[in-house]
Formats: sequence, structure tokens, C-alpha cells
Amino acid sequence: MDTFTIGGDIEVRRLGFGAMRITGPGIWGPPEDPDAARAVLRRTLELGVNLIDTADSYGPEVSEELIAETLRPYPEGLLIATKGGLRRTGPGEWPRDARPERLKECCEGSLRRLKLDRIDLYQLHSPDPDVPLEDSLGALKELQDEGKIRHIGVSNVSLHELERARELVDVVTVQNRYNLEDRHSEDVLDACSEAGIGFIPWFPLATGDLARPGGPLDDVARSHDATPSQVALAWLLGRSDVMLPIPGTASVAHLEENVAAAELELGADELDRIAAAA
Ligand SMILES: NC(=O)c1ccc[n+]([C@@H]2O[C@H](COP(=O)([O-])OP(=O)(O)OC[C@H]3O[C@@H](n4cnc5c(N)ncnc54)[C@H](OP(=O)(O)O)[C@@H]3O)[C@@H](O)[C@H]2O)c1
Repeated sequence: MDTFTIGGDIEVRRLGFGAMRITGPGIWGPPEDPDAARAVLRRTLELGVNLIDTADSYGPEVSEELIAETLRPYPEGLLIATKGGLRRTGPGEWPRDARPERLKECCEGSLRRLKLDRIDLYQLHSPDPDVPLEDSLGALKELQDEGKIRHIGVSNVSLHELERARELVDVVTVQNRYNLEDRHSEDVLDACSEAGIGFIPWFPLATGDLARPGGPLDDVARSHDATPSQVALAWLLGRSDVMLPIPGTASVAHLEENVAAAELELGADELDRIAAAA
């Protein structure tokens, strides 16, 4: 599987795993089947995945706790990327809170739950309209100077916010919503490709209509003996060398299918055809 080096010193396989779906409905509380969630996590490592994305807000706390409980002692080379800056007030509710004191609290909590001395990739989950970006990122910079964070990433940013963030700290990854159907972040992706910043597209499988039988993905999928979901992931990987998809699932079968997508190579004409159809 193709690799990408984050921040100049962490090499990861480009197809990662998003650990948001191993919690309860509405990303709230424990998963309905904790053993199945643990089986998914164990299988990620067996399949060679070494980028796992999580956040203190997934559950909240549930995703990080399950990761630590299931995967420790962590194998060498595993990057657990987490995030802070959102609160949880109920299922499906995610108010922002990126005040410096809150971010420090989030980071300390993640260190404790993940049982790590340092978080190798810590991401600002979202800029907070009530807090200057300088203040939020200033807090992450302090945590970095204290050795609690190795690299800083940002999430849910506009191009303008990314440019401002890069003036304040060394941004090594951006995590924005991006998939075949939703390419609002195309300008951010282009900026990342140009600067060698990892781009982590969330909601990478939202193919909707594209996955319908007889649709454009279905067509290409059939010719490669693959599934539409695999084509959607292969399209992302083919779109840019900095692309690091983190499909989320609570199913071992879907995980295996998604990881296998990294081996699917699409021709330039197929990539264009898929993009045009979307
Ligand atoms: N930064 C942010 O603000 C933000 C926001 C949302 C998510 N994220 C991160 O991004 C990751 C991915 O996003 P996401 O989980 O929302 O979206 P996603 O990966 O595009 O889709 C996940 C959904 O697709 C299903 N699925 C997964 N693999 C499948 C397959 N091969 N075939 C059919 N269905 C499949 C899953 O259901 P099953 O469980 O049934 O497989 C799940 O409901 C999250 O886990 C999280 O780490 C970040």
C-alpha cells in the first residue's frame, strides 16, 4: 500500500481508519456490540492500517477508551490521530468550544485515555467563531512546546483559515469533508497538495446515488470486480498523493473491503469519467 509521510517524519499507509463509528447511535455512548467494535480495531492492525483517526468527542471518550483498551501495547509505527475543540451535549450535537483552556483540557483528557505521553497528531476539530484562531492554535502550540503534541493538524477549515493557521503554526494535516459528491474543499485540497500537507477527507464514502446499480461507479466497479465503495476510495487515492482517506465502519467485512480499495488502480480516463459523472 502506498505511503505518505506526515510532518516529514511519520510514515503512514495512505488508507487509514476513522474510529467515530465504533460508538453508540448518534456517536453517543458505548457501541451496541463492544466485542464487534474491538474486533474491528484489532483487524485494522492485522490489515496493515497504521493511521487511526479519533476524537475526544466520539462517544464522548468512548472511541479513545476502546482504542487504548484494545490496541495497547501500541505497535511501533501506529499513528493515533485525535482532535479536540468540540463539546457533546447529546446524540448528534456538537457545539464548538476551542477556547485555549478548553483545548488544553481536551488534550490532557486524550493523553490520559489513550495512555500516551505525547499525541503524535493533534487536530483542532473545528475553528470556533467565538474564539480567535490565533488563541486556539496558540494553545496547541504551547502543548507542542511542552512536548504533549508532536504535530498539529486542523479540521473543517476554509482556504483562508488554512492560510492564517499556517502563519501561526506548522500545519501538517487538514481534515475536511470531501468525497466524490462533495468537493467544496477542492481549493483547500489543492493548497495541501501544493504544500505537501496531508489531506484527510472525512465522509469519504458518501457516494449516494453514485453507488446505485447501473450508475457510473457501479460500471467501473464491475469492470474491476470491485464494489462502488472501493471505487469511491480508489478515486480519492488517485485524486492526490496527499490524500489520506479514513473510512469509518463498525463492521469487519466493510473494513476489509475498504482497505482492499487501496490496491485498486484506476486509469486516468476512469478517474476523469467518475469525476465528471459526479
Ligand atoms: N473532522 C470532522 O469533523 C469529522 C466529521 C465526521 C467524521 N470524521 C472522521 O472521518 C471518519 C469517516 O467519516 P464517516 O464515518 O462519517 O463517513 P464514511 O467513512 O464515509 O462512512 C461511514 C458509513 O459508511 C458505512 N460504510 C463503511 N464502509 C462501507 C462499505 N464498504 N460499504 C458500505 N457501507 C460502508 C458505515 O456503516 P457500517 O458501520 O455499517 O460499515 C458508516 O455508516 C470518521 O470515522 C471520523 O474519524 C471527522
